[in-house]
Amino acid sequence: MPFPTTRLRRMRQSEPLRSMVRETRLTPKNFIYPLFVCPGEGIRKEISSMPGVYNLSVDEAVKEAKESKSFGLGGIILFGLPETKDEIATGAWADDGIVQRATRAIKQEVRDLVVIGDVCLCEYMSHGHCGVVQKKKQTAGAGSLAQQGSGAAAKPAIDPEYEILNDPTLEILAKTAVSLAKAGIDIIAPSDMMDGRVGAIRKGLDQAGLANTPILSYAAKFASGFYGPFREAADSAPQFGDRRSYQMDGANLREAMREIELDIEEGADMIMVKPAMPYLDVIAEARRRFDLPIAAYQVSGEYAMLQAAIRNGWLDRDRVMLESLTSIRRAGAQLILTYFAKDAAKLL
Ligand code: PBG
Repeated sequence: MPFPTTRLRRMRQSEPLRSMVRETRLTPKNFIYPLFVCPGEGIRKEISSMPGVYNLSVDEAVKEAKESKSFGLGGIILFGLPETKDEIATGAWADDGIVQRATRAIKQEVRDLVVIGDVCLCEYMSHGHCGVVQKKKQTAGAGSLAQQGSGAAAKPAIDPEYEILNDPTLEILAKTAVSLAKAGIDIIAPSDMMDGRVGAIRKGLDQAGLANTPILSYAAKFASGFYGPFREAADSAPQFGDRRSYQMDGANLREAMREIELDIEEGADMIMVKPAMPYLDVIAEARRRFDLPIAAYQVSGEYAMLQAAIRNGWLDRDRVMLESLTSIRRAGAQLILTYFAKDAAKLL
């Protein structure tokens, strides 16, 4: 029945009417709050490009965890800044690693809060890559020639002299997952993008008697410019090259579906799309095709971009915060990892 019988504005007349027919709702349980844990005590150091986000020592992280619980958040996810870095990512899987210590402290003080552990090696590797790096055997100086040819502005995607090894990395990832789960992490979230890592982690957990620890796989993680501020927060920028040989090409939707499908086959209990706002179509397609819970990560650059405009008075904080989160929810993600978690929960 067309106009004038049908008038869509009828149901928009007042907030009670609009609220009654609202299709997408946000609750604090939708939000997962990322925390960056660093060594020391009483430390709360703000990330310059992420106002309101801090590097926190374990004691301060415990306070944030308590607050997250009191706001009714779905959970928190922990990232670690280790004391030292090396080429086998010792800090990621050591018993007294920074995230392991933070987890024990949080679990001791805060009950019934879901604590997720990000499993990646970049923060713990001296070179800042997410996997084991091997220097390529010199083939008649081809590498150095290629380097001479390209100016500083046109750096090659990956240093031609190095490669990131897939299979040797899997072992370290599985070891890291087991160590985190033993420390009390509730959900293991691998974000490294090595092939086969979900299967390797599942096997590692099962063999360690941790068959009940779920895996939230960063299944479709794109090589994105929007991770910039995170690399300051987690001190994880690669020292050479970039991540394009393992993270996905932002142009590929069908390949994202293959990544998700493989992770499900390997045992993922939940999957993630990352970043969120530039990839809403990927979230929507994943929601259409798969039946497991879907998470999306509103990453550091998305947050920084909104905060910059908010601080300039160009955007209204509360409106854009809720609108951006609603859009991610509407696309089909039921869990949203977001630096706005606490602020949004306060508003709701
Ligand atoms: C680790 C990791 C990254 C993010 C989450 N886990 C950075 C990267 O891949 O470079 C990014 C999160 C954010 O930008 O907020 N690999």
